[in-house]
Amino acid sequence: MNLVLVGFMGTGKTEVSREFAGRFGMRYLSIDKMIEEREGISINDIFKEKGESYFREAEKSIVKEISNMDGLVIDAGGGVVLDSENMDNLKSSGIVVCLKARSEVILNRMEDKTDRPLLNVEDKLTKINEILDSRKLYYDKIEKSIDTSDLTIAEVIEQVRDMFQSSSS
Ligand code: S3P
Repeated sequence: MNLVLVGFMGTGKTEVSREFAGRFGMRYLSIDKMIEEREGISINDIFKEKGESYFREAEKSIVKEISNMDGLVIDAGGGVVLDSENMDNLKSSGIVVCLKARSEVILNRMEDKTDRPLLNVEDKLTKINEILDSRKLYYDKIEKSIDTSDLTIAEVIEQVRDMFQSSSS
C-alpha cells in the first residue's frame, strides 16, 4: 500500500511526504526528481527545451511504473491530477490525499522559488489563481483532502496518518 500526495504547488507535498516516509519507515519517492534524474536536466529546462507535453508524457510513464510498487510515499507533481489514467493508476496503488491551500498562502510559499516553470511570471498570484481555477474540479474530485494553510507540517502529518491508517486497516 502506497501513500500518494497530490495537490497544487506549495501545498506542502514534498515536506510532508519526506517526513512521513522517515517517520513511518516508508520510502520517499518524488516523481519530479525521477523525471529530472532520467532526463538529466531540470524541470525548468524540460519545459523550456522539450515542452510541457513532453514533461506530461514522462510524468505519465513514471506514474505507471511506480504504481506497481509498494511501501512508497509518492510526492506527485501538481499537474498529475489532469490525466485520468494517472489518477486511476495512483488510486489503484494506495491511498491518495490531496493537499490544498489558499492562493495567498501558496504565493507566500512560492514567492522566492524559481524552479516552477508554470509560475515563472511577473504576477504570480494571478497565475496561481488562474491555474487553481482551471484545476479546481480535478483537485475537488479527490475524496481525501487537507487544507494545510494554517497547519504545521506535524499537524498535516497527523491528519495524513489518520487517513492512511483508517483506509489501510
Ligand atoms: C507542476 C508542479 C510541479 C512540477 C512541474 C509542474 C504543475 O511539482 O511537476 O513544475 O503542473 O502543477 P510540485 O507540485 O511538486 O511543485
